[in-house]
Amino acid sequence: MNFLNRLVIPESNEHLTLLKYLLVIVTILFVTYTSIALVASTFSAYFDVRGKRKGNRTYLKFARNLIDLAAPNRGLIFSLAVLPLVTAILIYTQLLYGMNLGISTYLSYAAVFYFVGFYFLYSYNRSSHLDTIYRTFRQLAKSHASEVDSEVSTDVDSFERSITNIRRKAGRRGAVLLWIATWIFVGTTRLAFTPDRWATSSFLTVLFSSQTFWSFVDYVVSALVVTSAAVLFFFFVWDNGIVNSADNAYRSFVKKFSLTVGIIFVAIEPLLIFFEIQNLPQHSLSSATFGLAGIAMFIAFLLLHMFYSMLKDSRINLGTYAFIGVVLLVSIWAAKDEIAFSHATRVQDQVLGQRYAEMVEDLNPNRSVAVISGEDIFNGRCSACHRFDVKLVGPPYNQTLPNFVGKMDSLEDFIMNPRQVVPGYPPMPNQGLKPAEVKAVAEYIMGVYLKTHPQAAKKDTATVKM
Ligand code: HEC
Repeated sequence: MNFLNRLVIPESNEHLTLLKYLLVIVTILFVTYTSIALVASTFSAYFDVRGKRKGNRTYLKFARNLIDLAAPNRGLIFSLAVLPLVTAILIYTQLLYGMNLGISTYLSYAAVFYFVGFYFLYSYNRSSHLDTIYRTFRQLAKSHASEVDSEVSTDVDSFERSITNIRRKAGRRGAVLLWIATWIFVGTTRLAFTPDRWATSSFLTVLFSSQTFWSFVDYVVSALVVTSAAVLFFFFVWDNGIVNSADNAYRSFVKKFSLTVGIIFVAIEPLLIFFEIQNLPQHSLSSATFGLAGIAMFIAFLLLHMFYSMLKDSRINLGTYAFIGVVLLVSIWAAKDEIAFSHATRVQDQVLGQRYAEMVEDLNPNRSVAVISGEDIFNGRCSACHRFDVKLVGPPYNQTLPNFVGKMDSLEDFIMNPRQVVPGYPPMPNQGLKPAEVKAVAEYIMGVYLKTHPQAAKKDTATVKM
């Protein structure tokens, strides 16, 4: 997807951070919705087949309501699936520019499967409703046989047959495409925050790796939990619910089914969280990751409790809380991945930020005539972390500069390419200065140091001229 790279503009580090937050938000929207779509469409296709085979009205109705949840209308599909995924692809392109990783390309493959899958699911949804219309028509026609033209009846029969056929296929194809799309999506996002695999990564390693497999299992289990809660919320609470309150048999069937699925899978969730933490790459483990995992387990236990009490007592309806709980779970999942991704791209951010600084520099019309002033560079770039006499982020110059007296070359070399040297300090980030600027600032700080420490200056006057 090289054309995507052409859309990249250099951005400051602040912008890159902003993009990462945006990435978390679109991921939460996308993952919440597509998890529901994946599971609801699969169950819908299943209950549609079983309902037709057994002539079971409840199954057929459930199948129809489920697809209403999975692919309700084009506006929603666009804003919760298409838009977030396209945004995520653009953000990944920007953040990983120049790394030759293929993340955006693989995500684009996933996007194709998602979009075609949703197209099928949407037609499945539309034709499911037509199916109901035909069925109602035939019932009415039976009781008013004398008034119905026999030609119309035959037409309806043949339309119904072809619609049923199309519907079946569309439903099944849509669900299968979503499963493939999810596999690619999960494998690719996993790769994005596993730098150990970057060197050897290709699309094949994304498709066939144990990491992809386990992340996928994890995703599907969460998706089942999310969908159970979504069914409880959207079928019974939201907008008075899509389930007619008079139809008690159907109500209790839906409740029992989604609560059972919810209980089974939310009970294995803590185990998966545990394994996930075990499998995270070493460098992305941090106290934040452990904290998030703890919160996730706590929410999983709360959900288990809610599902269980709803199953015990049908009058209790905690659909709203359960849905809030699963959205929180998805958010934690996205935040955890984001932290891992941030850790993985720390160096990359430095490089991109530097590129931005250079671009801004190039735009400055006075650049060639401006006199490079060591003092200005010190005030602008270094004083945030360094003073001469006190310790800030970096060591005080009065403590480190003595080592460089008479060794201006190595001082310049350090500023050009900082390395970890002084124990107890974090490594100094590369300041991205040009050689002339490095020379100017090195001479400036050494000059100030020698002026205030004449003793040291006496030892060495040959190399440093003020
Ligand atoms: C973001 C904070 C930060 C900024 C900005 C920064 N430094 Fe540093 N600097 C550090 C830290 C931290 C160390 C200690 C690094 C180490 O020991 O590994 C350090 C160490 C040094 C040292 C001592 C190296 C040694 O071998 O003892 C010099 C000299 C130095 N910085 C110069 C500069 C100059 C010149 C600038 C501005 C162009 C600058 N620094 C900007 C954080 C910073």
